Amino acid sequence: MCGIVGYVGARNATTLLVNGLKRLEYRGYDSAGVSLMNGQGVETRKAKGKIAMLEAAIEAQPIHGNIGIAHTRWATHGPPNECNAHPHHDCSGTISLVHNGIIENYSPLRAMLQKTGHTFVSDTDTEVLAHLIEAAFDGNLEEAVIDALALVEGTYGIAVISAKDPDKIVAARKGSPLLIGIGDGEHYVASDVAAILQHTRQVVYLDDGEMAILTRDSYRVCDLDAKTVKKGVSRIDWDLDKIEKGGFAHFMLKEIFEQPQTIENTMRGRSVDEDGFSKLGGLNLSKEFLQHLDQIIITACGTSWHSALIGELMIEEHARVRVEVEYASEFRYRNPIVSEQTLCVVISQSGETADTLAAMREAKRRGAKTLGLVNQVGSTIAREDDGGVYLHAGPEIGVASTKAFTSQVIALALLTLKLSRLRNMSVVQGREITQALAALPAQIQTILDSASDIEKIAEAFVDAENFLYLGRGYNFPVALEGALKLKEISYIHAEGYPAAEMKHGPIALIDENMPVVFIAPHDAVFDKVVSNVQEVKARGGRVIVITSREEPALAGKIDYEIRVPETIDMLYPVLTVIPLQLLAYYIAAKRGLNVDQPRNLAKSVTVE
Ligand code: AGP
Repeated sequence: MCGIVGYVGARNATTLLVNGLKRLEYRGYDSAGVSLMNGQGVETRKAKGKIAMLEAAIEAQPIHGNIGIAHTRWATHGPPNECNAHPHHDCSGTISLVHNGIIENYSPLRAMLQKTGHTFVSDTDTEVLAHLIEAAFDGNLEEAVIDALALVEGTYGIAVISAKDPDKIVAARKGSPLLIGIGDGEHYVASDVAAILQHTRQVVYLDDGEMAILTRDSYRVCDLDAKTVKKGVSRIDWDLDKIEKGGFAHFMLKEIFEQPQTIENTMRGRSVDEDGFSKLGGLNLSKEFLQHLDQIIITACGTSWHSALIGELMIEEHARVRVEVEYASEFRYRNPIVSEQTLCVVISQSGETADTLAAMREAKRRGAKTLGLVNQVGSTIAREDDGGVYLHAGPEIGVASTKAFTSQVIALALLTLKLSRLRNMSVVQGREITQALAALPAQIQTILDSASDIEKIAEAFVDAENFLYLGRGYNFPVALEGALKLKEISYIHAEGYPAAEMKHGPIALIDENMPVVFIAPHDAVFDKVVSNVQEVKARGGRVIVITSREEPALAGKIDYEIRVPETIDMLYPVLTVIPLQLLAYYIAAKRGLNVDQPRNLAKSVTVE
């Protein structure tokens, strides 16, 4: 996620700001920049890539000043490059701004500003803010920021400086964290306390709709009506390592707990409830193509292949389009049947997986249209596909994929809605899906609130040597995903199977040493799973059941039960996977293993 640091005081800000950005590197980024007030005006240095590239740019052309702002960018609009890196400026170059968040109405605002003579240099949504402030500026920076933000829809955490009102930093927050650091004769602004912890432990957290005006000797917090707001000062007692993980022991656990917010980000502006359909801006595919395509191939690897299996069930059930799911490593060497009427959906968190990239190129060579469901903006797959749906899940640091998986399933549900409402799905049926989507963040939170119960269950299986995961229908891919999570971070052998497959062999494995996880919410195939549970119990197996309701037929047969809220069948995977992520995490953590960087694994497999 993007990072913001700002300083106003007596010291030279250059090194202080760059070091502050280094404290935010763990959050993931693709470019960085800094702006300083140098006595004559605003001077800026930016660079694509790591902060070392920014340091090189500063070394080549030094800048000095004691008021400045700096930023690490995780691209959402516009590829990662120097031009799109923050800070961004107005036409006169006297205003400089850094921004975290997404300006949803940036296109009409950009068009309006261009009509009044503003010229833009970047592809970002952020640049619009700098020009809006310029258009409103009348000598006072905070007043101009208030007027500009009144026109903005979306989320922001910003810090702004102006050579025409030079002794201050103005910061404002709506939906993207921002705090003030209080020093002696100096003040800071940051998106994350890690950036300023070495200078101060006294901070003021801004809330949504609040703004701060910082000078060397003072700070003031007000609302967007310019009314002063009284704020308490917090003292930070955490150490840096804890802060980078948001207080969680590992990035993986932090990312599991981020999922209510990350799936909300995936859905933001894309699920239109009143008409029961989805708006996907970047598809770049004509309505005619979407209405007449004759097959969809979904290709991916690992966890992304599991979400592809869920997408297949969704699209075939609701849009009635034939779907084939292919391991990318297999697809790239097969002789697949692909035509101009084929849509090849490519799913990849990193957007750099070699097998998936090669499979997409092969599909393109054969004439298919390609659609990337990718998290990393500006990645190779995202740049080479014909159209895309960014996951907006933020950087996923833990090698074991969690929040990317649930965002992939959400993106596939939105694609299903799009295709289905272009075919035979009614607005009523569409609304059932959009309303169920809207309920998911709170439902995930309900499951996360019971994490300690799942931790207790994990304690009983720390020494297990094998696990079986069983599910049917939409929850068979969840069984595969649960097994992958466990094996890749705890090194316990685990297999996922369709529950009915038990009787064709795996049931020979069942005894008191073989824990079996059933993913069995009350969906269309629940009753069939009940008999599978009974078969396992009859052979002495220990049974963990993820379910959504009390089931009399299973009374006394479940050793460990984990409840999830009820939803529609196609969206159960977003809920039933959460307990499996937590179960795998707690077992691995209790085995004292390196959960975030498991042995032999890389976060992005960029080689064959
Ligand atoms: C998932 O936990 C693994 N880290 C791995 O299977 C991963 O999903 C796979 O390598 C695909 O990566 P991608 O989504 O970045 O293409």
